[in-house]
Amino acid sequence: MQAAIVTRYGPPDVVEIRDVPHPVAKPGQVVVRQHATSLNSGDARIRGANMPPGFGLILRLVFGLRGPRQPILGICVAGEISDIGPGVAGVSLGDRVLATTGFAMRGHAEYVAVKANRLVPLPETLSMEEAAALPFGALTALYYLRDRAKLQPGESVLVIGASGAVGAAAVQLAHHLGAQVTAVCSAANADLVRSLGADQVIDYHAQDYRSMGQRHDIIVDCVGAATAENSHPALVPGGRLCLVIASLGYQLTAAWHSRRTGVRVIAGVGAESPKDLAMLTELASAGPLRPHIGATFPFARIASAHALADTGHKRGNTVLLFDRA
Ligand SMILES: NC(=O)c1ccc[n+]([C@@H]2O[C@H](COP(=O)([O-])OP(=O)(O)OC[C@H]3O[C@@H](n4cnc5c(N)ncnc54)[C@H](OP(=O)(O)O)[C@@H]3O)[C@@H](O)[C@H]2O)c1
Repeated sequence: MQAAIVTRYGPPDVVEIRDVPHPVAKPGQVVVRQHATSLNSGDARIRGANMPPGFGLILRLVFGLRGPRQPILGICVAGEISDIGPGVAGVSLGDRVLATTGFAMRGHAEYVAVKANRLVPLPETLSMEEAAALPFGALTALYYLRDRAKLQPGESVLVIGASGAVGAAAVQLAHHLGAQVTAVCSAANADLVRSLGADQVIDYHAQDYRSMGQRHDIIVDCVGAATAENSHPALVPGGRLCLVIASLGYQLTAAWHSRRTGVRVIAGVGAESPKDLAMLTELASAGPLRPHIGATFPFARIASAHALADTGHKRGNTVLLFDRA
């Protein structure tokens, strides 16, 4: 089978499509024949060893010193079950499924062995492309809004970077949870974020959300622009600042910044659970969460998808399609 291999950190052209052995379903696992997967900012960060300040050494300790020791990146798996390992019950060959593989990665391959307890059944109402675009961004947005910021209906949420994978999901989930949503993005993406549920749009090239006299209960920063110090004029007293992206130093001193400014700084790596993915899949199937697919590439052109992610200006999620004609 074919897989995208990254043996050393570097620009998008370090990614090579190679033939590798077909995975076997071990006890407790199934093999998924993929129809689609996604290429997201996390994959591009690992490939390029491009981490927020302070995380460079941690990346190399966790993923590998000179290159990823797991050379097949990618965490989203969307396809049909093609093999079932010993001890797995309740699934059948051909079942349409979605899963994330977390730190084990291996999603950028035609076939992926996945623990059966990570599988989420995929309803017919969702295409394989939509499924592949669902987990990355939505799981993180859910983690920040529901679990960390504990968003309440009627609160006001400002999302910076509202047109990206995390931001587009944050706009939709905040709207779904009953918030008034202000989206910060460029003018070209204003219609998109309005269609996702934003009540107000701020073009970051023309206006500064901090000098508009508005105060929000929660700010979700997906671009690394906000700090407690520069954002407190746009937050109510005790407001929550979710730093989806921040330097290691700022994260380690979050409690100090909170005390100093009266803003509750929330940072960290989003959690990822099959239970939450199942809930998000139901939301997507029912309508309130629409995975936004900004670009689609054939799997063979994965290097181009990496290059798009490297720009930091992609819209929503990028999907890679396998040839299943
Ligand atoms: N903490 C976690 O667990 C976690 C999880 C996932 C991702 N992340 C991080 O979160 C960040 C966002 O990820 P993503 O996948 O959503 O990125 P993405 O898909 O590349 O989206 C970034 C978006 O931000 C917009 N943008 C860029 N600069 C902006 C600015 N100054 N103000 C407003 N919008 C701006 C871009 O649109 P324009 O073209 O309009 O600029 C683009 O649509 C990445 O750094 C990623 O590494 C963290």
